[in-house]
Amino acid sequence: MSTETAAVKPAQAGNGWEPNILAFCCNWCSYAGADLAGVSRFQYPPTVKILRVMCSSRVEPAFILKALKEGADGVLIAGCHIGDCHYIDGNKNAEIRINNTKKALVKLGLDKRLRLEWISASEGLRFSEVIKDFTEEIKKLGENPVKHKIEPQIPSRASEGRRHVCPDGIRGFPLPKGNRDADERRFNASANKSAVNVQGSE
Ligand code: FES
Repeated sequence: MSTETAAVKPAQAGNGWEPNILAFCCNWCSYAGADLAGVSRFQYPPTVKILRVMCSSRVEPAFILKALKEGADGVLIAGCHIGDCHYIDGNKNAEIRINNTKKALVKLGLDKRLRLEWISASEGLRFSEVIKDFTEEIKKLGENPVKHKIEPQIPSRASEGRRHVCPDGIRGFPLPKGNRDADERRFNASANKSAVNVQGSE
């Protein structure tokens, strides 16, 4: 069951609170789409901070948990449409990874705060609409109740000292399934631990 109240109650919105959304946009499509939205003057709320990554598959589960822990109310991953990824299968791997991360976030009641969208370089209007829609959804959920409470203990690949520029799918070499499973196991263990911490701190 996907529920915001599974682990914790959302903090009440009010006193001018505005959602704080972190968007990981892939360099080749979604970042260009965001750029086009600006150039075309499509309006969207100033609730989003954009972080450019080379591919949607570059976003590790640890990045998402860290963002939620350190103040994001919502995390958006935006990449090229399926079939358009510049690293061939990067976005397909990202889709598997984000879906698995969402499942793990159910334990924390945070799954609705993570969204994956495909936005091309020519879809400036779509970019603005996704931001508007996600902002509204986060407003309904309220402030992220676990900010500064959860402790992401999963080391990212980079911090493990491994050399990965784009872990899933760079130049068409998909991350072996075993590595993906290891990612999920580490994330699940961390999410379980964090859920216990959050419940214990209520
Ligand atoms: Fe855009 Fe891979 S380069 S999703």
